Amino acid sequence: MRQGTKSVGRGVLFRYPDYLPLTADTPRITLGEGDTPLVRSRFLEKEIGVGELYFKLEGCNPTGSFKDRGMVLAVAKALEAGSRAIICASTGNTSASAAAYGARCGIETLVIVPSGYVAMGKLAQAVVYGARIIPIEGNFDQALQLVRSLAAVHPVTLVNSVNPHRLEGQKTAAFEVVDALDDAPDYLFIPVGNAGNISAYWQGFQEYHKGGQAHRRPKMMGYQAAGAAPIVRGEEVRNPQTVATAIRIGKPASWAKAVAARDESGGAIDMVTDEEILQAYHSLARHEGVFGEPASAASVAGLMKYARNHREIGESRVVCIITGTGLKDTDTAVLGAAPAQPMAPDMKAVERALGWA
Ligand code: F0G
Repeated sequence: MRQGTKSVGRGVLFRYPDYLPLTADTPRITLGEGDTPLVRSRFLEKEIGVGELYFKLEGCNPTGSFKDRGMVLAVAKALEAGSRAIICASTGNTSASAAAYGARCGIETLVIVPSGYVAMGKLAQAVVYGARIIPIEGNFDQALQLVRSLAAVHPVTLVNSVNPHRLEGQKTAAFEVVDALDDAPDYLFIPVGNAGNISAYWQGFQEYHKGGQAHRRPKMMGYQAAGAAPIVRGEEVRNPQTVATAIRIGKPASWAKAVAARDESGGAIDMVTDEEILQAYHSLARHEGVFGEPASAASVAGLMKYARNHREIGESRVVCIITGTGLKDTDTAVLGAAPAQPMAPDMKAVERALGWA
């Protein structure tokens, strides 16, 4: 029995109403989030040596990341409670998503971001959707502390993933994976920053398992960047650094939940270097046609690292979550690419440039 799967493509609140904390008064808003593609690998599956490998393309959400799944519910519940403003700290994607749903619903959106460490595409989204943007001379962890304090004393709803509605919405991605594969995969590889998403997926897999829609639950495999790996190192990282700015976080809010997901599922939380992240990022784009952002490539880099030491993965069904689109961060994409010199619009010149003459 698959409750609520009939209204495919109409948004998370319409597709999975029976699994979400909706009341008659919750506004049924949508920007068409969810129902993202799960595509089979054509190259890396064989290259890495995985039984079956799939990519969940969360960059296909309306603002280009998985955040929309949780934001639609967080904003709907804020509206239901009569709130007129939302606030969040962000490394970029949460602010883009909050700004979009805030604009859609006619409420004010305030975002606090670490100055100089948000990819330009994400900042552009917050600007164009009309959010009020406060950059701070500090990192994400400090921004989150600030918005928590502000939301405690001002009439504004906090929409970071410490808001439980965010995780409730995000868990629908796990439902979609099971709906697409007819069961849970053996392993789920996912990047970890503030640790909300890994917690949300685990919640989703558990709910579907309890409800009988899935017969098993996956091992949850979370990956942090080596320069921002507090869970792996077992202590807060005060000055996190990584090319994957989305997961440049030293004190994850959902730390305990992520550890529980890891332990209850028999999975692991490990780290990958920036070099490994960028290698996976390029490999994914060049060999699979999948352009994820650097943080998203941490899931694939993690799989590559894990598979080197665990050959049993050759018998397994694996899903990697590609959490956001690479278009948000074109600076990283073109880094080191030599700009071609413009030439005369002349066939002979172009043939020479191509090495055809
Ligand atoms: N991938 C992308 C593209 C992200 O933007 C984030 C988090 C993550 C992975 C990690 O997810 O935090 O739930 O563990 N971005 C947040 C933001 C922090 O502000 O946009 P997480």
